[in-house]
Amino acid sequence: MGEAPRSCPVLIGREAPLAALRELIDAAGAGRQGLAVVAGEAGIGKSRLAREARRHAEARGVRVLEGRCFDTDAGTPYVCAAHAGSVGSDG
Ligand SMILES: Nc1ncnc2c1ncn2[C@@H]1O[C@H](COP(=O)(O)OP(=O)(O)OP(=O)(O)O)[C@@H](O)[C@H]1O
Ligand SMILES: [Mg+2]
Repeated sequence: MGEAPRSCPVLIGREAPLAALRELIDAAGAGRQGLAVVAGEAGIGKSRLAREARRHAEARGVRVLEGRCFDTDAGTPYVCAAHAGSVGSDG
């Protein structure tokens, strides 16, 4: 009770998708648009991969916005991106 959730401190594998995300982030930092969709079954490591990508972006000074969506948002396309646009994580 009250303890932080345990998480493996290193990312295991995922070299190819992480490289692809880093490439997109570097391109975004250079002003080029792109889009990546990270999809997979529950618990497969989507959020973990996104966290690593975020670290890459932050290390390069690339702005990160984070959006979330919920079951009630189903049926509203791109709602996650809309939330991200209104609630920037860097203020
Ligand atoms: N490649 C990895 N290396 C080390 N740990 C990992 C890796 N992928 C996932 N994990 C760990 O496995 C657990 C589940 O991963 P994560 O929360 O990223 O899954 P998810 O796909 O986002 O799940 P959900 O669909 O429920 O949102 C977490 O503790 C995460 O740190
Ligand atoms: Mg997740």
